[in-house]
Amino acid sequence: MATSLPTLLKILADPTRLRLLGLLAREELAVGELARAVAMSQSRVSNHLKVLREARLLDERREGAHVLVQLARGAALPDDLWAAIESRLAAVEGRADDLTRLEAVLDERRKKSRAFFDRVAPEWDAVGSAFEHGSARWRALACLVAPGLVVADVGCGTGYMARALVRVVERVIAIDHSAAMLARAKENLAGHAAQVEFRQGELDRLPLADGEVDAIFASLVLHHVPDLFAALRDMRRALKPGGRLVVTDLLPHKEAWMGEAMADLKLGLDATELKSRAEKAGFVDVAVDRLDDAYVVEAPGGRRAALPLFLIHARVPQNAANDAARGLPASLRTNPDRP
Ligand SMILES: C[S@@+](CC[C@H](N)C(=O)[O-])C[C@H]1O[C@@H](n2cnc3c(N)ncnc32)[C@H](O)[C@@H]1O
Repeated sequence: MATSLPTLLKILADPTRLRLLGLLAREELAVGELARAVAMSQSRVSNHLKVLREARLLDERREGAHVLVQLARGAALPDDLWAAIESRLAAVEGRADDLTRLEAVLDERRKKSRAFFDRVAPEWDAVGSAFEHGSARWRALACLVAPGLVVADVGCGTGYMARALVRVVERVIAIDHSAAMLARAKENLAGHAAQVEFRQGELDRLPLADGEVDAIFASLVLHHVPDLFAALRDMRRALKPGGRLVVTDLLPHKEAWMGEAMADLKLGLDATELKSRAEKAGFVDVAVDRLDDAYVVEAPGGRRAALPLFLIHARVPQNAANDAARGLPASLRTNPDRP
């Protein structure tokens, strides 16, 4: 049964109880911490807590050896009544000192946490890497991504990129010219069947409608492509106005064996040259980053080669007027009627 208003007001008329409630509204505290914050004996604090508990003004939970207490809002203590009290707490005698001592109590918690992590830091990566997070980190990243995105992973191979993308976007269209690679990608993405569509096709004749996708990822595929400009132009065609292109690939290198062993048409790509081709194909805001990561491959004879990587990201202009202003040929202009 809810505490009657006269009883409630009588309970709240005690300044110590008001001070305790004021602290518990700030943070959940153990009884010992609360006693230190109000500079009173634990037994005196416990007596007051008993009264507050009986009036259902507290929530309690056990954590190991400690009982943690916090203010219970809702039925017993209506929000509007608490708001009126809270706005006047500063005038309660002892409140300022309580807050200073509370800070010291919380500081002890901080010190304890800091000391723990200082101690375990050297082993943390080894210990922490065994902890599973499911898709929690991906879901966190997904909050930065606009909802409802449809993206294409072109030259998807066995679906490395698509497996990452599928966790953060609405739908992925995975495209490759090799039926066997697509079949493996399908197996690897079996758990996401509703979100991924597989299409077979060439990069310079993408099996995508005009303006079908919001973004295109081309990871480690452009060095396989015979006609780069045609591929860039077709990606531009398949992107919506404002759509994004993201390319990662190898910078020029000297591992000639990769031509034969990995069917690489080019030993890496000149990123500056690719940027200017992307601009000619109608992309804007084209940016090149050299990555710190390397693509590590095993050369014949067991030798390992670490090849430098770059990343290019670019954007399709938002509207046709922009395109015209940039002097793009009509064939490359954004269709203003496109949704
Ligand atoms: C090195 S794998 C990269 C796979 C994946 N994107 C990744 O990051 O791991 C290159 C893939 O691109 C595909 N590919 C190469 N040239 C292509 C083209 N012209 N059109 C479509 N796919 C192509 C290959 O079949 C292969 O699956």
